[in-house]
Amino acid sequence: MYQTSVTAIAENIFPITINRPEKLNALNQMVIAELGEAIEEVYQNPAIRAAIITGSGNKAFVAGADISGFTGLSKEQGSRMAKEGLDVFFKIENAPKAIVAAVNGFALGGGCELAMACHFRLCSDTAQFGQPEVNLGLIPGYGGTQRLTKLIGKGRALEAMMTGNLINASVALQYGLVNYITKPEDLIEKTRVILKQIIGKAPLAIAHSIAAANAALENEKGYQLETALFGECFATEDMKEGTAAFLEKRKPVFKGS
Ligand code: COA
Repeated sequence: MYQTSVTAIAENIFPITINRPEKLNALNQMVIAELGEAIEEVYQNPAIRAAIITGSGNKAFVAGADISGFTGLSKEQGSRMAKEGLDVFFKIENAPKAIVAAVNGFALGGGCELAMACHFRLCSDTAQFGQPEVNLGLIPGYGGTQRLTKLIGKGRALEAMMTGNLINASVALQYGLVNYITKPEDLIEKTRVILKQIIGKAPLAIAHSIAAANAALENEKGYQLETALFGECFATEDMKEGTAAFLEKRKPVFKGS
C-alpha cells in the first residue's frame, strides 16, 4: 500500500518500517506524506491498538531528512518543508494510542526527531542518535530543538546541536533518551512485549495519559521559532555550502554568511 514503508497489523500492533535502506531511510517528501497516512491509519483503524516505528535494514533507523531535497529551496520553502514534517510528528506525539520508536541504527537529524516524537524509545546497542544539522549550516527543523531539550536537558541538547556529535546507545540510556537497549535481534520483540502490556490496559486511560503528559511540555512558541529559524538558514551561503559538501562527499568551508 505504501511505497516508502512496510506495514502489516499483527496482534493489534501496527509496525511502520521506513523503507529506503539504500539512502539510510532518509525522509523525503513522499516518506513524510506516507508516514502521515500511516499515522492516520493508527488513529482511524480500531484493529490497531499500538504502533512501532522502525527503519529498514540493519544500519539506520532514519539518517535524517533527505539532504538532496534541500538544494535550491528558498527560506519560505525551507520553512514549509519543516512545517510539513513537524505536523506529521505532532500527529505522532498526540496520537491516542501508543506509538513507540524501535531505533535500530542511525537516528540522525529528522530521524532523531522522529524517534523523539514517539511516546518513548527503545534502541539496539548499535544505535546512534544526533542532531548533526550544524554540519550542514542548518538547525533541526522537525522539532529537535524543542524535544531534545525537553528530553535530555538544555546543556546536553545544546552540546549535541552545536557540536553535531553523535550519542551512542549507552549514553542515550544514561540521558533518558531511550528506555531500554537490546541486542539488534531482540529489539522488535522487546518493543512488542511492552506494547502488549499497554494493549491490555484501558484504551481511554492510555489516550488520556498521553494527552496529559504532552500538556506538561507544551510550548507552541518554541516550535514556531524553530520553523522560522530553520527557514532563515536556507537564505545563507553556509547552508548552501554545507549541503553541497555533503552531497559531494567533502568537508564544508563555512564563512559565516
Ligand atoms: N539525506 C540524503 N541522503 C542520505 C542521507 C540524508 N540525510 N543520509 C545518508 N544518505 C545517503 C548517502 O548520500 C549515501 O547515498 P549514495 O550511496 O547514493 O552516495 C547513502 O545514503 C549511504 O550513506 P553513506 O554516507 O555512504 O554511509 P556512511 O556509513 O558513510 O555514513 C552517516 C552514514 C549516517 C554518518 C552519513 O550518511 C551521514 O552523515 N548522513 C547525514 C546525516 C545528517 O546530516 N542528517 C541530518 C540531515 S538534516
